[in-house]
Amino acid sequence: MKRRLFVALLLVSTSVGLSAAPWSQQDPQQVMATLTAKFEQGQYSKKGADSCLMCHKKNQKVMAIFDGVHGQANGNSPMAGLQCEACHGPQGKHNRGGKEPMLDFGANASASVAAQNSVCMGCHQDAERMSWHASTHNMEEVTCASCHSVHAAQDPVLNPVTQNDTCLACHTEQKMKSHQRSSHPIESGEMLCSDCHNPHGSMNDSALTEITVNDSCYNCHAEKRGPFLWEHQPVIDNCANCHDAHGSVNDDLLKVRAPLLCQQCHAGNVHSQRPYSDNGDSAFTAGGSCLNCHNQIHGSNHPQGQALQR
Ligand code: HEC
Ligand code: HEC
Ligand code: HEC
Ligand code: HEC
Ligand code: HEC
Ligand code: HEC
Ligand code: HEC
Ligand code: HEC
Ligand code: HEC
Ligand code: HEC
Repeated sequence: MKRRLFVALLLVSTSVGLSAAPWSQQDPQQVMATLTAKFEQGQYSKKGADSCLMCHKKNQKVMAIFDGVHGQANGNSPMAGLQCEACHGPQGKHNRGGKEPMLDFGANASASVAAQNSVCMGCHQDAERMSWHASTHNMEEVTCASCHSVHAAQDPVLNPVTQNDTCLACHTEQKMKSHQRSSHPIESGEMLCSDCHNPHGSMNDSALTEITVNDSCYNCHAEKRGPFLWEHQPVIDNCANCHDAHGSVNDDLLKVRAPLLCQQCHAGNVHSQRPYSDNGDSAFTAGGSCLNCHNQIHGSNHPQGQALQR
């Protein structure tokens, strides 16, 4: 009895020892100190990927790197250079049973976020990622590998069918809004987060691809750009004064419905403060409210359209 229990315990403990990365229990600072020393010593393996694959070729995820761009041995690709070690750092003594840390990636990695990202940026520092260092994603310690899968034939975040899901896994507020009754076709995947945002950051507050919110909207709603003979100032100023790009419970992606929408700014106006609940069939109270009369809300080109009513 006792003997069998002992054998069972032994099996449990050895299987744990094999599956957990040996350095995963180490203090992260200690791991980083080891990695830094390894990079300084620069002991790369002589056989490149072949030496790694001696131990890692049974892992299908590892092997999938050869189905993607990073597994092709051409140009500046890792496989044309240091191979696996171009990303995971020099092998050093790791081949002695895998106990010495390698630079690892992802949410549960031992390596620091800065170390992981600097490996990728070593080859991808270009115009697209010009604003990466100041970006919210970088500040919030989102790693390149939080969005990108390199050990894969196709990276899901680069596939239009799956990109939004990658983003919405973290962005639950936008996910909720994309289901609301008025929304851009985000849920169906016809519109991508990257149609409006640069996930690597931009010069704009909300990492928009264009300089202003309005320029982002004009890409698809060019007719709203004008110029109009009679402009409506908040429209010129920022479409997001009235619309929520991700979705809304109100029609037309409106943040608030008329008359309240209008009264936020037109409070001092006499006729805009008329009671709107007394008589359901007047032009003031029927469905469109202020819009029953002011129907050219984005601007008017009619000679007498200064009140945006024609
Ligand atoms: C002698 C066998 C051996 C060799 C050779 C070897 N490794 Fe490992 N490697 C291991 C073991 C054992 C682990 C421990 C964790 C595990 O995968 O179960 C490991 C873990 C790793 C991890 C972390 C895995 C994780 O789950 O996060 C990476 C990354 C890695 N190795 C990369 C490499 C690279 C790159 C090379 C070639 C330069 C290499 N290894 C060569 C045995 C080896
Ligand atoms: C372009 C950079 C890059 C190259 C080249 C690369 N890897 Fe990775 N590797 C990663 C990233 C990023 C991850 C995190 C997992 C992911 O892609 O989602 C990873 C994960 C791993 C893991 C952990 C896998 C697991 O089961 O979780 C191992 C082991 C590994 N790589 C070994 C290798 C070996 C061996 C090679 C060479 C054949 C290699 N890597 C080439 C970037 C790279
Ligand atoms: C040794 C250089 C090198 C390193 C390191 C490297 N890459 Fe790449 N990467 C390339 C090359 C070369 C290409 C293909 C040509 C191109 O698009 O620039 C590429 C392409 C890509 C692409 C586009 C893939 C596609 O299917 O079109 C993504 C995304 C990417 N890399 C992400 C990463 C991430 C994330 C890391 C870090 C884990 C990384 N890269 C590390 C060289 C590198
Ligand atoms: C928040 C998710 C996210 C993060 C974090 C992220 N990317 Fe991307 N990346 C994307 C998306 C989405 C695309 C495709 C759309 C685009 O080009 O803007 C992309 C495209 C790419 C491409 C191919 C097209 C191009 O822009 O050249 C490369 C290379 C790339 N990313 C590298 C990186 C590197 C390196 C990092 C880390 C410094 C990183 N990415 C961080 C989401 C992300
Ligand atoms: C691993 C989690 C994660 C993933 C995946 C992710 N994000 Fe984020 N993102 C964050 C965090 C954390 C913040 C900062 C807090 C916030 O605004 O929610 C952020 C902020 C943002 C912001 C606001 C930027 C700013 O400067 O204010 C935008 C836009 C954004 N993400 C877009 C995207 C897009 C597009 C994708 C997919 C390509 C994506 N995110 C994927 C975690 C993530
Ligand atoms: C039609 C363009 C458009 C699309 C598509 C889009 N966004 Fe946005 N997003 C915006 C605008 C505009 C803002 C800035 C709103 C503002 O300034 O009030 C923004 C802001 C954000 C913010 C910052 C929110 C905050 O409160 O600071 C996050 C996070 C975000 N978007 C994530 C996403 C994600 C994730 C997707 C894909 C599911 C996505 N967006 C798709 C236009 C868009
Ligand atoms: C990539 C193209 C694209 C961009 C960029 C874009 N839109 Fe749209 N927009 C669409 C499409 C397509 C529809 C029609 C959706 C439908 O009928 O399902 C739409 C519909 C709308 C609607 C009507 C929604 C409804 O419920 O009927 C409003 C309002 C709107 N967009 C405002 C904006 C604003 C504000 C911006 C900038 C923040 C913007 N759009 C950026 C493509 C875009
Ligand atoms: C002062 C508030 C306000 C601002 C600012 C505003 N809109 Fe609107 N928008 C509305 C209202 C109200 C409706 C619904 C009534 C209608 O159809 O005119 C609407 C409807 C829309 C529609 C769907 C119906 C149509 O006309 O195609 C689109 C698209 C749209 N807006 C785009 C934009 C864009 C792009 C901007 C920025 C250039 C913008 N809006 C700025 C109030 C505003
Ligand atoms: C974000 C603030 C804001 C919102 C919301 C807003 N407006 Fe305006 N509106 C202005 C400003 C600023 C002007 C410029 C004239 C002024 O100083 O009053 C203006 C001008 C107008 C004018 C022309 C006034 C003139 O001088 O002839 C009309 C009509 C008007 N708005 C109606 C509306 C209606 C109807 C709504 C709701 C659908 C609305 N506005 C929503 C800020 C706003
Ligand atoms: C029954 C039609 C009608 C309705 C409903 C209506 N308006 Fe007007 N509004 C007008 C007309 C007509 C004018 C032009 C009056 C003039 O030229 O003296 C005007 C002028 C304005 C002006 C600019 C002149 C001024 O008085 O400052 C604003 C701002 C305005 N309306 C806002 C609103 C708001 C906000 C609502 C909804 C709460 C609303 N209106 C509802 C017909 C209407």
